Amino acid sequence: MAELSVEEIGGLGEQAAGEAAAAASRQELDQVRVAYLGRAGKITEVLRGLGSLPAELRPEAGKAANQARQMAETAIEKRREELAAEEAAERAADQLDVTLPGRGPEVGHRHPLMTTLEDMLDIAAGLGYTAVQGPEVEWSALNWTALNYPPDHPAMDEQDSFYITDEIMPRTHTSPAQIRAMRAMHDDSCPVRSLDPRCPPDEPLEKCTCTPAPTRVVVPGRTYRRESVTLTHHDIFYQLECLLVEEGITLAHLKGTLGAFLRAYLGPETKVRFRPDFFPFTEPSADVSVNCLFCEAKGCRFCKHSGWVEIGGSGLVHPNVLTAGGYDPDRVSGLAFGFGIERLAQHRFNIMHIRTLYDNDMRFLRQF
Ligand code: PHE
Repeated sequence: MAELSVEEIGGLGEQAAGEAAAAASRQELDQVRVAYLGRAGKITEVLRGLGSLPAELRPEAGKAANQARQMAETAIEKRREELAAEEAAERAADQLDVTLPGRGPEVGHRHPLMTTLEDMLDIAAGLGYTAVQGPEVEWSALNWTALNYPPDHPAMDEQDSFYITDEIMPRTHTSPAQIRAMRAMHDDSCPVRSLDPRCPPDEPLEKCTCTPAPTRVVVPGRTYRRESVTLTHHDIFYQLECLLVEEGITLAHLKGTLGAFLRAYLGPETKVRFRPDFFPFTEPSADVSVNCLFCEAKGCRFCKHSGWVEIGGSGLVHPNVLTAGGYDPDRVSGLAFGFGIERLAQHRFNIMHIRTLYDNDMRFLRQF
């Protein structure tokens, strides 16, 4: 054994304690233990060499060596406990807490415009109407001509339109589907069923060779107009068209049906107002309003301070339109109306600006 002074022997204990405290892992700590207290460890060697010391040095050197061993052992034990506690804490942090509530997927829901449309279709089904659809891109001849708009008639200005070609346009209303629905009621063998939808105005309409069943349809769908956006107008919007053609239909049926529709959707207290209006495809025609629910009919921005909100147009089907559908106007009559779905949804859900229905702001949509 190398000759060490008593101070140097004491220093070994402090060195061992310092290295033990700095050990970052159990492996490092073990290396410290082996280096000082192992079989060839520095402190072990001092202890082993005590016997060969001169007798007068032995007691003091022995005491110092034992203290050094004690100090090293205590420091190593303390650090071992610290490392064990750190590991346990890490394990605990990694552990899955099965009692935590789960994170479910975010579930979407129907847009208020669609729930409005679906509610209206449900009401229509209850009244005996079948839902059908027409194309959003339509022949201008069905959007106008077959609906009794004379060429260049100013009534077309009421529905400022987009055009794709001279003959084809995004429909300005769901009314062209009236023609399609009526023609679809004819027998397969009847020439009306396969009439050219462009209905060339200079060719006489083919005569019906069958007895078509009554037409009872509702047509939901998107419509397009070249309009600037206001509180209640949008250039793309939804309509719901309703058409009933059979024997003996009168204005009383129209009023009754409209009232039933609107009261079923907006509530039994709803007041419905009819005012004379003009549409080329109905005669007589009436616009349809309900009492404003925003201001309880006291007058507000939404109802333009009138207390009434216009919901759509209506009327008895014009004989020329029945003819375009292949029906005999001397035998049957019909009622028709068209609602703006946005307007109804705005009214029902208190939505002051139509644009909020199209903004897709989640703060708005989550309310429904
Ligand atoms: N198509 C008309 C519009 O969009 C509404 C309407 C439908 C009027 C059916 C009468 C009959 O303004």
